[in-house]
Amino acid sequence: MLNFAYQQKVAVIGLGYVGLPLLILAAHKGYSVLGIDLDKERIASLKKGKSYNPEISDNDLQTIFEKDLIKVSTDYSELPSCDVIVVCVHTPLSSDRKPDYSYLVNAVREIAFRLRQGQLIIVESTVAPGTTSTLVQSHLQTCGFVAGTHYFLSYSPERIDPGNKEFKLNTIPKLVAGFTPTCQLLANKFYDSLGLTVVPVRTLATAEMAKLLENTYRDINIALVNEMAQVCRTNNINIWEVINAAATKPFGFQAFYPGPGVGGHCVPVDSVYYTSWARESGTPAKLAELARKVNAEMPQYVTSIIRQTLAATNKIISGSKILVLGVTYKKDTDDVRESSIIKLIDQLQVEGAQVSFHDPLVESINTNSTELQRITLNVNSISQQDCVVLAIAHSAYNMSWLYSVSPVMIDLTNAMADYPNNKLSKL
Ligand SMILES: NC(=O)c1ccc[n+]([C@@H]2O[C@H](COP(=O)([O-])OP(=O)(O)OC[C@H]3O[C@@H](n4cnc5c(N)ncnc54)[C@H](O)[C@@H]3O)[C@@H](O)[C@H]2O)c1
Repeated sequence: MLNFAYQQKVAVIGLGYVGLPLLILAAHKGYSVLGIDLDKERIASLKKGKSYNPEISDNDLQTIFEKDLIKVSTDYSELPSCDVIVVCVHTPLSSDRKPDYSYLVNAVREIAFRLRQGQLIIVESTVAPGTTSTLVQSHLQTCGFVAGTHYFLSYSPERIDPGNKEFKLNTIPKLVAGFTPTCQLLANKFYDSLGLTVVPVRTLATAEMAKLLENTYRDINIALVNEMAQVCRTNNINIWEVINAAATKPFGFQAFYPGPGVGGHCVPVDSVYYTSWARESGTPAKLAELARKVNAEMPQYVTSIIRQTLAATNKIISGSKILVLGVTYKKDTDDVRESSIIKLIDQLQVEGAQVSFHDPLVESINTNSTELQRITLNVNSISQQDCVVLAIAHSAYNMSWLYSVSPVMIDLTNAMADYPNNKLSKL
């Protein structure tokens, strides 16, 4: 039985936004760690001590490598030497917007080839309820391994919020469930040894569903304010002032803010994991499906604001020069996955606009039709635009300078709440 002495070895499979910080934390806590990722560029970068994750500094990486506690590889061959295996591969949507478990399936196959008696496998990737049992446990069972007997199986959803300065991996309580009580106990001990606050959850499906509730809750509430923003705009009411006023209620209300849509690898994806699973199980989640639709349509709504704004200067979208500031899914991250702003740019390009972009954290983006390189921001590059759209108010932006040099601006963020409206439209 595992007792989590520091001489034990931890493998983290999938070294992305979730897996890399976990790997570093385990190494800091004295574990010998093996990081496995199929992405050769990521592994090469880590070996050079270069972090690709803004949350992890090069210095952090180099310190761990110097202590010789870490090994990273594209190869699974050393997996049998590990006592704990944490699976953090991505669970995205396929091109037809369905849950794509292929990365998880591949990781489980690789584990199955090498499983050693007594290993603890923990899945952290976001999945629909039942997946840890049906996909992981069932596959290993067909390979002759019984969970709770030959190996231990746990599900513990990752809840990090990259860019969040207040809550980090080590301060967010960790939900932990096990296939058997012993599986749960072992996973509890592992996370406890990392210094995390463990919240035991009775079943795997409860932990899987809790993660989907957290993110579907966000999707639905953002849809509510996105819809209300549209109603308010029609009626000349400032949605931001409405939210700030409502937020003074000390109970029963949590503020969510409108925007050009909902992006990132979590909220818009996890809500589809939920709605697809609910529909398949025979009880469609109608509210969550509608919320997803409202949020997915925001790029079209923002396009209509741009159209109105240009019309005020006798211009149309086709042929207009439109500069979009900020393309990530939220402030101060470099993550463009599922970015609704790239969808907005797609829409503007379809309508014939000459779109350029700037983002302090992103050098290039792929739209449906082209690859765009970020432009340099200066008086010349901004003043020649027909319209400048502030889509993400990254901390690096100097708002008063942007406002002063832009001919016409649209603020989707409320960062320019106090600026005169004569050349400024707002969501
Ligand atoms: N990004 C977040 O903020 C966040 C927060 C909470 C939960 N999650 C969930 O955590 C999971 C991971 O998300 P992420 O953002 O870290 O993803 P990511 O895309 O940043 O990283 C996933 C990594 O897994 C690697 N990978 C894929 N298949 C592999 C395999 N078979 N073997 C080894 N490596 C493999 C990829 O190359 C990639 O580097 C997802 O299920 C996500 O929903 C993400």
